[in-house]
Amino acid sequence: MKLFSENIEDLRTLYITSLKKALDMEQKIAKALPTMIEKSTDPQLATAFRNHLTETQQHVAKVQTMVRDATGDDSTSTCKAISALITEAEDNIKDAAEPSIRDITLIASAQQVEHHEIAVYGTLRTWAELLGQDGAANTLESILEEEKNADKLLSDVADTVNTTAEPRTAYSR
Ligand SMILES: [Fe+2]
Ligand SMILES: [Fe+2]
Repeated sequence: MKLFSENIEDLRTLYITSLKKALDMEQKIAKALPTMIEKSTDPQLATAFRNHLTETQQHVAKVQTMVRDATGDDSTSTCKAISALITEAEDNIKDAAEPSIRDITLIASAQQVEHHEIAVYGTLRTWAELLGQDGAANTLESILEEEKNADKLLSDVADTVNTTAEPRTAYSR
């Protein structure tokens, strides 16, 4: 993408607003993950969530620093998408009484969140590059890689959980 100088300020404004939304997103995920850990029955799944909670807390700190560097404070902007994904996850968990089905539901919901984060950080990384902010672009790239890895680990756990789920409860009509 080519940018003209008059577009740079508009992109910078958009970038900062999106960074503030990413901060709100990470804070909400950090708040939601302890419930996901608590609701998991598969030990591998609980471990994956626990490890990603640690990473998520680091994401909060990193994005907070980037927002502070760009604006002088660490105020957030509401990320409506993550609120909707978390509300939907909570509804799905309530509906899934059988433990293995609940694990599958938790993985599905968590992967929707990871895919959203992957889209957010892919965009932010590219915008940081366009704005010539190489340090921020590198940090965003490292967060992006952790989100991709979290998504992959959830797929790996899903293989185990899916095969141990009771077929009659998982797929019966
Ligand atoms: Fe994250
Ligand atoms: Fe994540």
